[in-house]
Amino acid sequence: MELVLEKASKLKGNIFVPGDKSISHRSLILGSIARGETRISNFLNSLDCLKTLECMQALGAEVELGKDNSVKIKGKGLYGLQEPKDILDVGNSGTTIRLLAGLLSGQDFYSVLRGDASIRKRPMKRVVEPLRLMGADIWGRKDGQFAPLSVRGNKLNPLHYTLPVASAQVKTALLFAGLYAKGETVIKEPLPARDHTERMLEITQADIKISPSEIKLTGGKELRGTDIFIPGDISSAAYFIAAASILKGSQITIKQVGVNPTRTGIIEMLNKMGAKIDILNYKIKSNEPQADLMVEYSKLKGVEIKKENIPFLIDELPLIAVAATQAQGKTVVSGARELRVKETDRIKAIVSELKKMGADIKEREDGFIVEGPSKLKGAVCESYNDHRIAMSLAVTALLAEGKTVIRNSECIDISFPGFEKILQNLINF
Ligand code: S3P
Repeated sequence: MELVLEKASKLKGNIFVPGDKSISHRSLILGSIARGETRISNFLNSLDCLKTLECMQALGAEVELGKDNSVKIKGKGLYGLQEPKDILDVGNSGTTIRLLAGLLSGQDFYSVLRGDASIRKRPMKRVVEPLRLMGADIWGRKDGQFAPLSVRGNKLNPLHYTLPVASAQVKTALLFAGLYAKGETVIKEPLPARDHTERMLEITQADIKISPSEIKLTGGKELRGTDIFIPGDISSAAYFIAAASILKGSQITIKQVGVNPTRTGIIEMLNKMGAKIDILNYKIKSNEPQADLMVEYSKLKGVEIKKENIPFLIDELPLIAVAATQAQGKTVVSGARELRVKETDRIKAIVSELKKMGADIKEREDGFIVEGPSKLKGAVCESYNDHRIAMSLAVTALLAEGKTVIRNSECIDISFPGFEKILQNLINF
């Protein structure tokens, strides 16, 4: 599929974005191994989350997806999953494969996880290595570096571990394995990665203690099913936040967006660039903060983003590059090497496509440098089958003279089905 977009004048209107992807994955997995019923509302019905749903069903969980993005799960309890009869397919979802690697390590059965061409290139040693330290019997190509992964469930020991990279997927894999370990698992992070797992473990009554320096989890305790409301995904809202910030005359409100402080780096950095983003109606639901975000056009200036900022806006960095093309002065992003091992090499991808459209952007080993502002022109662009690259280019297209074609745009459904429709509503308000 190709997404064809033209230059737009401004964005106006009030919108909702679909539920948070990270929280949706976690709610399915924890609901399946909790005791009692879990009712999820505003679940993200996207390709990635459906992969987790299918995997949990293949593991014997009773998960039912309703029409209105609600999900009902009859929990099986900590020890109630069953050996899957076939290979578990995670599709394009890095979150699914890494989180399930942790969960499956502690089961008393054998399972295999496979994924698409992108998944088969992404680093798995980061979960395999610490899981092996816990006693997991887990294998993959190149001694566990690459999927497919095979897991023969084992009795696990608790782990004291400092993550070498700030990664919520690795942290979560270890916490899920820790639920099955006898004793206390202690995890320290170099920088705080998104903490949705810890928050959900709290409301499902796990034996967890969270402090700024470490997370302590004692295994063996049954979790309790609960009602989980999922806020709108700030990573999806980000495309409209950035677009409204750079299109003259725009004013939009995005309702009920998750504003967990481990995810709001995009708001902080855009504000630092001079954006006008107001946070209204702040409340906490299901242990996660949410708010309405009101965004108005504003003149932006360049910004410096360093290693310590990266985890708070890791998925929004391609979009920062787009905003930087319209900002006065230099934007420098460094310490973001992790971007090279996402669904595609996001540094290479965004630099090459923005260059095609006339941006002044240079690739760095661990980031990029953008000199703005630039007049952009429409082009035929590649999505690299990466949803975040495709949507970042869609925002760029709104600024570019003429027509922009984004190839293989169907990948947008990985995280944001309905993206184009919402965008068109804001354009035609
Ligand atoms: C995610 C964690 C991040 C993020 C990804 C979702 C999660 O990945 O980029 O989109 O749900 O835990 P890393 O853990 O690799 O940083």
